[in-house]
Amino acid sequence: MIIAVDGPTASGKGTIARALADHFGLPVLDTGLLYRAVGYQTQLGHGDPDNAADALAACDFPDTLLDDPALRYESTGGLASRVSIHPAVRKALFQRQVDFANQPGGAVLDGRDIGTVIAPHADAKLFVTASPEERARRRHAEMRARGVDVTYDAVLADVHARDARDTGRADAPLLRADDALLLDNSDMDIDEAIAAAIAFVETKV
Ligand code: C5P
Repeated sequence: MIIAVDGPTASGKGTIARALADHFGLPVLDTGLLYRAVGYQTQLGHGDPDNAADALAACDFPDTLLDDPALRYESTGGLASRVSIHPAVRKALFQRQVDFANQPGGAVLDGRDIGTVIAPHADAKLFVTASPEERARRRHAEMRARGVDVTYDAVLADVHARDARDTGRADAPLLRADDALLLDNSDMDIDEAIAAAIAFVETKV
């Protein structure tokens, strides 16, 4: 059983992927972390995230970096979206994700291109989204709760910039697979969105 969960930034896809993994007893991979590790590695002195060769060199990051809390920073998400446009970077991270998806017993993966590129044969595909304003509102509230001093307008601008980069890139753009359930949770709370996701996957088992 392979479950692919794709969607834009701050859509709730990570929370939904973890809830599905819990419910169905499957391992889960947040593929955004891999791109975040590459972006962060460029910042650690391995060059310019907009330069393809530098970004490729940064793909050779130590596994321990995946546990670094700095990967969760907003700024690291921005770096991730810059390195992720390079086809060489996507290729370097490809096999690791495919192997995770195809492990015996199955897996849940969340990202941008799981249902389209990494696991086009997934048993259940979800495209999780919400309006940019709602995603910005949630991210803003979450950042303020963590004590980050940021305005709603700045967060909304970042959501738009990340969306533009993720949907506009030539290689593996953020795109709903034809056979993916569109789960727009603009008017749902997270528990309702999780329940809808579980109900959909149950139709596929
Ligand atoms: O999901 P998350 O915000 O952690 O992803 C960070 C960035 O990594 C995204 O904005 C996107 O550009 C990139 N990414 C990607 N493909 C994936 C997962 C993430 O291009 N499968």
